[in-house]
Amino acid sequence: MMKKTILISGGAGFVGLNLTDYILKIGKYKIIILDNLSSGNLELLKDIVKKNKAEYSERLSEKADVIFIKGDVRDKKLDNIFEATDFVVHLAAQTGVIPSIENPFSDAEINIMGILNLLNYSVKYKIKKFVFSSSAAPLGEQLPPLDEGKIPSPLSPYGASKLAGEGYCKAFYGSFGVNTVVLRFSNVYGIYSYHKGSVVAEFLKRIMGKKSIYIYGDGNQTRDFIYAGDLANVIIRAIEKKGVGGEIFQLGTGVETSVNQLVKYIKDIVKEDVIVEYKPERKGEIRRNWTSIRKANKILEFKPDINLKKGLELTYDWFKKRGKNAF
Ligand SMILES: NC(=O)c1ccc[n+]([C@@H]2O[C@H](COP(=O)([O-])OP(=O)(O)OC[C@H]3O[C@@H](n4cnc5c(N)ncnc54)[C@H](O)[C@@H]3O)[C@@H](O)[C@H]2O)c1
Repeated sequence: MMKKTILISGGAGFVGLNLTDYILKIGKYKIIILDNLSSGNLELLKDIVKKNKAEYSERLSEKADVIFIKGDVRDKKLDNIFEATDFVVHLAAQTGVIPSIENPFSDAEINIMGILNLLNYSVKYKIKKFVFSSSAAPLGEQLPPLDEGKIPSPLSPYGASKLAGEGYCKAFYGSFGVNTVVLRFSNVYGIYSYHKGSVVAEFLKRIMGKKSIYIYGDGNQTRDFIYAGDLANVIIRAIEKKGVGGEIFQLGTGVETSVNQLVKYIKDIVKEDVIVEYKPERKGEIRRNWTSIRKANKILEFKPDINLKKGLELTYDWFKKRGKNAF
């Protein structure tokens, strides 16, 4: 049987590289990656292809397991790509809260016009499933656990542009029957994340550089950390599950971890002196944040596999061996 093709926008970034690795391991799909390389890393993508003994090409006309196309999700000449595509996983984005506050127009331009363009192509080319990577940001400050029933109330332009994307997913399901699935990721960490400014990547990089790490506030603020390999697994579940068009799933692990606890785990793993400096609390920072994954568990049969300790070990190992040389 011919393998179906998944188009991954932003596939050369952190989540996309983990997803590509996962897909090549299960061996069921071909992949087209559309990425403008604004933060993605082509060398790491080639490493992953090689590690999985897969074929790589940069031409759509060639038969390869992974085809990389350098381009922008707002591009109006994506017909050839969509002609060859069965499913879409839309990851490409402006991903930072701070840049979105500094430049809300640019954030909206990439995050809103980007998804609108890909959804429009998805109608034209009858895409079977469109998975959108949203975040907890559309929800803003809420009493945890976060779940799909909360009323969105974004605090940042990034949260607002992701919420707009969620709205378009629902609208394109309602108006055109595109089977969209919105996945709201919690804090993702893992291998291939050396370029990220998220807390785990930041702490590990500072420790490796023999610098002290900063905790803002008392360190009792909590988060829900999901390993990127587990996230890849649930993205594929969302693609394969029938009858979930127009749905939203809140994703995470269901485990609430304080920043102090995270630092304890990291200290156990890195086995070197870690100097922690407590700084004044940052304005607007969410105090408690963890996710109920009941819906994803029930409908997508998703259960995270890698606990935080194990995931941190894998991440630190990769940061030491490959991460610091990759950027
Ligand atoms: N990492 C997290 O903790 C987290 C949490 C919640 C949601 N998300 C969402 O998951 C998705 C992936 O995030 P990530 O952590 O892998 O980020 P990343 O920056 O590592 O990857 C994003 C990729 O998109 C590409 N890209 C950016 N703008 C583009 C454009 N206009 N056209 C084509 N390609 C473009 C970049 O080059 C990069 O390869 C994003 O949509 C992000 O908002 C991530």
